[in-house]
Amino acid sequence: MRIAMIGAGYVGLVSGACFSDFGHHVTCVDTDQGKIDALNNGEIPIHEPGLDALVASNVKQGRLKFVTDVASAVGAAEVVFIAVGTPSRRGDGHADLSYVYAAALEIAKAIKKFTVVVNKSTVPVGSGDEVERIIREENPDAEFAVVSNPEFLREGAAIRDFKHPDRIVIGSSDQRAKDVMAEVYRPLHLNSSPIMYTDRRTAELTKYAANSFLATKVAFINEIADLAEKVGANVQEVARGIGLDNRIGLKFLHAGPGYGGSCFPKDTLALIKTGQDYEAPLRIVETVVAVNDQRKRAMARKVAHAFGGNLRGKSIAILGVTFKPNTDDMRDAPSIPLITALQDMGAEVRVYDPVGMEQAKKVFENVTFCEGPYECARGCHAMVIVTEWEQFRALDLKEMAAIMACPVIIDLRNIYSPDEVTRNGFLYSGVGRPQAVAY
Ligand code: UDX
Repeated sequence: MRIAMIGAGYVGLVSGACFSDFGHHVTCVDTDQGKIDALNNGEIPIHEPGLDALVASNVKQGRLKFVTDVASAVGAAEVVFIAVGTPSRRGDGHADLSYVYAAALEIAKAIKKFTVVVNKSTVPVGSGDEVERIIREENPDAEFAVVSNPEFLREGAAIRDFKHPDRIVIGSSDQRAKDVMAEVYRPLHLNSSPIMYTDRRTAELTKYAANSFLATKVAFINEIADLAEKVGANVQEVARGIGLDNRIGLKFLHAGPGYGGSCFPKDTLALIKTGQDYEAPLRIVETVVAVNDQRKRAMARKVAHAFGGNLRGKSIAILGVTFKPNTDDMRDAPSIPLITALQDMGAEVRVYDPVGMEQAKKVFENVTFCEGPYECARGCHAMVIVTEWEQFRALDLKEMAAIMACPVIIDLRNIYSPDEVTRNGFLYSGVGRPQAVAY
């Protein structure tokens, strides 16, 4: 198959690289000349484990190309994926579809034969209809079908998720398009990944429902964590106790500082807006968003609690600022409101992240950027673990205790056992486990 991938961002790049690895010929198109030049020089603009090697090997074998010209890529393709961004629109939280519709217009001008246009971007219900309308209006003779094929990959595990998906959802009622999509995903089908065919609107809604449901699980366990702290219970064991029930499942029940990233915050908001527009309000999701927003500053109060509520004159080491490990993505990271709140309370903040420092420097002001966890913690009154990077799981606690002004660990990801940490002379506070500290 010849595939054009419009948008060489996160989803476009990962999907393009994986499709080429399946044996398809993929041309990734992006309007950002700098990005395309970098990709052609072998530089990958995002941090995703394994992506550089996958891109290099498929470029070398001539199956993966990067260009800025939509017309030539689309003209030669049987399948065109739209994988451009759909950020939250400033001011109202609706998904901003201007990039999707601009891509549709460009595609319309370049279609030469029957072409399957696939929306991989996360778009509200009905956007596929609009893409179809735009193409038909611009090019009334074009032979095409518009398909919805939402992407469920997680940053940091994107290649594995793409190659071993729990399911592939394809929304279309056009048989020719379904046959083409079956061919595109044939290698996965042979791996026995289930492919679910449905109509386009159902596929579009499925993506938002999936992310909102997962966000709900996280927000739910976070509230249970707060209660666990108050009543002297352990949220990790509660999570296991409920998660072993197959109807609930063990995943997405890790209590922490609240969810972030490029998907959950924006997709929950967009789904709420759709619900309001269709007079079917999603009150549970509305509450999830409110609970998650409030949580981030609440985590700063948790740090302050260790010092009797006062952080003036205290230095705080923040370990991990990306929204989760194995990514350099800072979008909607819980660390952002948390650090602002700590500064509002008068604390001085020092920051270290294994991969996210470059992005962090674009986001934070008045913080000290450090080279490693020990340099970061030196002279600090508390260390706050915000992102559960592997390298933070085995810190030398004796050394840490010796170099900190005051040995306090606030572990917002529960990566340490309270016993181990307190044995090394620390005051310790996790999330949803009964060990409050006060200094
Ligand atoms: C998510 C979906 O998982 C993916 O299917 C979709 O395509 C895009 O959105 P991603 O944003 O990469 O992927 O991250 P994910 O691993 O889902 O984590 C989202 C947020 O929830 C992170 O901030 C993470 O720290 C938090 N989280 C997740 C928890 O706090 N607890 C959990 O148990 C799981």
